[in-house]
Amino acid sequence: AAIEKGGYDHFMLKEIFEQPQTIYDCLRGRLDAEKGTITMSGIQKYAEQIMNANRIIMVACGTSWHAGLVAEYIFEELCRINVEVEYASEFRYRNPVINKGDVIIAISQSGETADTLVAIENAKKQGAIILGVVNVVGSSISRVSDGGAYTHAGPEIGVASTKAFTAQLAVLTMIALKIGYEKGTLDKDRYMRLLDELNSVPDKVKVVLEQQERIKALAEKYKDASDALFLGRGYNFPVALEGALKLKEISYIHAEGYPAAEMKHGPIALVDENLPVVFVATKDSYHEKVISNMQEIKARKGKVIAVITEGDEHSTSLADDVIEVPEADEIVAPMLSVIPLQLLSYYVGVAKGYDVDKPRNLAKSVTVE
Ligand code: G6P
Repeated sequence: AAIEKGGYDHFMLKEIFEQPQTIYDCLRGRLDAEKGTITMSGIQKYAEQIMNANRIIMVACGTSWHAGLVAEYIFEELCRINVEVEYASEFRYRNPVINKGDVIIAISQSGETADTLVAIENAKKQGAIILGVVNVVGSSISRVSDGGAYTHAGPEIGVASTKAFTAQLAVLTMIALKIGYEKGTLDKDRYMRLLDELNSVPDKVKVVLEQQERIKALAEKYKDASDALFLGRGYNFPVALEGALKLKEISYIHAEGYPAAEMKHGPIALVDENLPVVFVATKDSYHEKVISNMQEIKARKGKVIAVITEGDEHSTSLADDVIEVPEADEIVAPMLSVIPLQLLSYYVGVAKGYDVDKPRNLAKSVTVE
């Protein structure tokens, strides 16, 4: 088993550290930044339908659902297509309105999650086009799907999903770039710039991973908290949800993720000097707004831990602790800002002596409803 873990203590840590490679593998052979092309045959076949879709419905569970939420922001921005993001378990049991021409994107690491599978089977019967963004080749969801793209992240063993998530983001971003450019809602300059940005993600992830020791120290500092709040806006809002989910799964600390402004409508009541509040606050078009949310937490004596863009002195002066990530376009930023949160939950779980690869009560793949 030690060999399988490649020298790492746990699969989860190994998989976190594999991300520069897995994201690279996911882009390789598809994205050509010099030629300005994205080649994805399982998407190309449906490009017309996607471009002309009334709406795209992302269907998923857990961490994959969070990837869908990030993709909602990206598709609406770059492709100007209305996107809904659905929990598969809710979508399958209500009587959803599905029209011909709706495009469903099922997102799943395992390709076997029962709720996601049945949800797309139902939607298919009603005439929707089903695209799969799946990691496991030949899995049930990939077989039911009309088209799609694999994430090529390799086997994920740790129950808490890490490298599958960033690969899902890479694939979904490539689809949005391709569709937006072909549709004309994304101009050539921005398209070419975003191809470069995407291409540089693996190297930037490496830089984030270099902060391992610092994040470990933060985990020691905050491991005895009973609750934690994760806040973000825009592209980083789903990252906040994912950070909270990771912490709950691995460390059993109660954590909530919230849109940073929405916290005023509830979670702010929890803030006192004992509550760690993790801000996902990289520099983007929402930044000034996030800063003022940070000030609101500080005014109530909350402990602010912020994931920020390198050199952001303003955020550094407000936060109790910061973790820096390299500068990047906001479209690709979630692939960087999620990494410190994965590491933080990992180290908190380890510090508390828990089995991080097999957290209690959770299954890697939920094949029963
Ligand atoms: C389980 C796993 C999660 C995963 C979710 C969806 O809850 O523990 O890590 O995100 O299922 O799984 P899928 O394979 O469909 O992505």
